[in-house]
Amino acid sequence: MLPSVSSLAVVGLALLSRVSGTILQNGQVRITNFPNTRVDPSAHSFTTYPQNATQISYQGRWDSKYVSWWSAPGLKFGFTGPQVAISFGPLTSPGVLVGYRIAGMDWQFTNITAGGTHLLVTEQTPGLDLNITGAVTTFELRVTNWAYGVQIDSIHVAAGHKAVKLPDAKRKIEVIGDSLAAGMYTSYEGLSSWAYGVGAGLGNTDYSITAYPGICAADQDCWGNPRGQVHQWFYTSDTSGRAAQAYGDNPDLWDFTKDKPADLVIINIGTNDQNRANNVPPSVYADALTKLIQGVHGKYPDAQIIVMSLWLGFERTGNTFLSVSHKGFINEIRDMIAMFNSEAYLRDPMTYDGRTKTVSRIGRKTKPFVHLFNTTGILQHNDIGPQWHPTDVGAIKVASHLLQYIKLTLGWELEATGPEVFHETLYWNDEPNY
Ligand SMILES: *[C@@H]1O[C@H](CO)[C@@H](O)[C@H](O)[C@H]1NC(C)=O
Ligand SMILES: *[C@@H]1O[C@H](CO)[C@@H](O)[C@H](O)[C@H]1NC(C)=O
Ligand SMILES: *[C@@H]1O[C@H](CO)[C@@H](O)[C@H](O)[C@H]1NC(C)=O
Ligand SMILES: *[C@@H]1O[C@H](CO)[C@@H](O)[C@H](O)[C@H]1NC(C)=O
Repeated sequence: MLPSVSSLAVVGLALLSRVSGTILQNGQVRITNFPNTRVDPSAHSFTTYPQNATQISYQGRWDSKYVSWWSAPGLKFGFTGPQVAISFGPLTSPGVLVGYRIAGMDWQFTNITAGGTHLLVTEQTPGLDLNITGAVTTFELRVTNWAYGVQIDSIHVAAGHKAVKLPDAKRKIEVIGDSLAAGMYTSYEGLSSWAYGVGAGLGNTDYSITAYPGICAADQDCWGNPRGQVHQWFYTSDTSGRAAQAYGDNPDLWDFTKDKPADLVIINIGTNDQNRANNVPPSVYADALTKLIQGVHGKYPDAQIIVMSLWLGFERTGNTFLSVSHKGFINEIRDMIAMFNSEAYLRDPMTYDGRTKTVSRIGRKTKPFVHLFNTTGILQHNDIGPQWHPTDVGAIKVASHLLQYIKLTLGWELEATGPEVFHETLYWNDEPNY
């Protein structure tokens, strides 16, 4: 799916060297050929749009300097003509790997240079149909890793062509979580995560993933994350060292009016609270998760909320493996869901404000809006890698079950017919007899 060297030469790329990253696959280095897409912009004739152009739809959390945060942040826009390039600002993490694609094609990957201009779509890009004059194609880009980010300086299309604002998708979801949602230890991290799979698999759905590895629900230091989601979810930036460097102790509050509110929020948090190393008492966890749900409810009053039960890997028991999910705050999660669904709560629901740390009334709800997605029995022994996280296949299984749960529980149709692409998971057998 990558443009060949000769095709790159056709469009006058100055830099043809290839770089390769290291993705470990069962302990072996996976062969990757991330093309070097950096170009000298002065050798090209572009129509350019600034970082704040209304044509660009940013996905996930971006700050006022157009720097991205959290897991798999991205952007999309429509374009006409044979080229798309992006100039990245100096606050880009050096060498950060991004995925990008047109329409519902497979993702391509390239390492980004801070301050560089990268030519990402050319006439040779698979799926680009230049036969229809003026046809608008969708361009999408996502940062693969939660800890790194990009800064957008400007976007470019071929001279004489244009970028177009795409309409918002019909639906919007947000996933709030930790490393499990961020895609830690899957091949392409955020772009191999179940959270991505749910967003892309629903189709006609914008998605953002407010997840960071190691983070707790409770507001305390967990594995070096200084704050928990009950606090940090209200802020633009995540709990990374990069964010600490950019903002110190004064991150920007996230402006929830900037984007369309989510219609569905999926929360999977508590695996780190539950870990003895972080020592969060069950009551403190339950209080934090309750406030996080009330916070989501305050910011998105019409959103449905799905809380996932925790899964915590496997223990060998005799000659088989047993899920240890029974240790994951089961009673706290069950009691909390029951509380949210009680007639008494629906009569007098609450919201939580992460800035003032206050709980307040919001007014009667007629229908329950918090749902439990029980993950027990989805992941089996070889769906979890040695680092206790889903494998690529495990992530696809979680996404698939969750998609069906969303369809059955909320009545959302699955509108994707192709674009839920998990890069490099295509393998098959061509032998009929052996
Ligand atoms: C490209 O990104 C991959 C994945 O993060 C990384 O392993 C590799 O070192 C990067 N290559 C360069 C040249 O920055
Ligand atoms: C983008 O930023 C420039 C420079 O600050 C400003 O002049 C322009 O009005 C902004 N455009 C939009 C669409 O906000
Ligand atoms: C575009 O037109 C050319 C020449 O007529 C043809 O060979 C090619 O298959 C067309 N491409 C698509 C995607 O229809
Ligand atoms: C999830 O299902 C399992 C198996 O039915 C059950 O033991 C567990 O209590 C359930 N978890 C919650 C949070 O309800």
